[in-house]
Amino acid sequence: MAIDFKKHIASIQDFPNEGIVFRDITPILQDPKLYKAATHELAEYAKSRGADVIVGPEARGFIVGCPVATELGLGFVPARKPHKLPRKTVKAAYDLEYGSNSLEMHVDAIKPGQKVVVCDDLLATAGTLRATKQLIEDLGAKLVGAAFYIELPDLKGRDLLPDVDIYSLVQFH
Ligand code: PRP
Ligand code: ADE
Repeated sequence: MAIDFKKHIASIQDFPNEGIVFRDITPILQDPKLYKAATHELAEYAKSRGADVIVGPEARGFIVGCPVATELGLGFVPARKPHKLPRKTVKAAYDLEYGSNSLEMHVDAIKPGQKVVVCDDLLATAGTLRATKQLIEDLGAKLVGAAFYIELPDLKGRDLLPDVDIYSLVQFH
């Protein structure tokens, strides 16, 4: 029987700011069967897109993307917040539901022409995904899909990236 992942996501009102309903995936992570099942769903998606490499944006994208890469026998590339990566990087700025930031990736992290699937816990405004896409394309690689545990369709993240194939396990309206 299909797992009802939605039941295992906690919703916290007014966190981190008033008006935001924070969707918390930690109950899934705490349960080894659920974490494995969610990882498997995203891995099947990434395989179907022909991924050569998995990229995860800091920090929750690491938690979601690393086990997907491991299940598929692929490498994992972190897109990190500023001043964390020690070697030469490409950089892209973005806005969030509750702030703004930028992401960096090592210039040799992905080879030109590689097919990339981005994994993260949640798609909201798609600021993070757009910045990650820019980094991937700056390195000459191709974003072939993006996979999330959660999507917030009312924030219309998909509409900003009509050319990107997006997969999500659950949606919250
Ligand atoms: C959260 C989440 C996604 C992003 C989604 O990360 O993990 O990466 O926001 O929002 P968007 O679609 O509007 O860009 P956050 O920047 O809060 O960082 P964290 O993973 O370090 O908590
Ligand atoms: N990242 C951006 N919006 C979020 C939300 N509502 N819950 C959890 N993470 C988020």
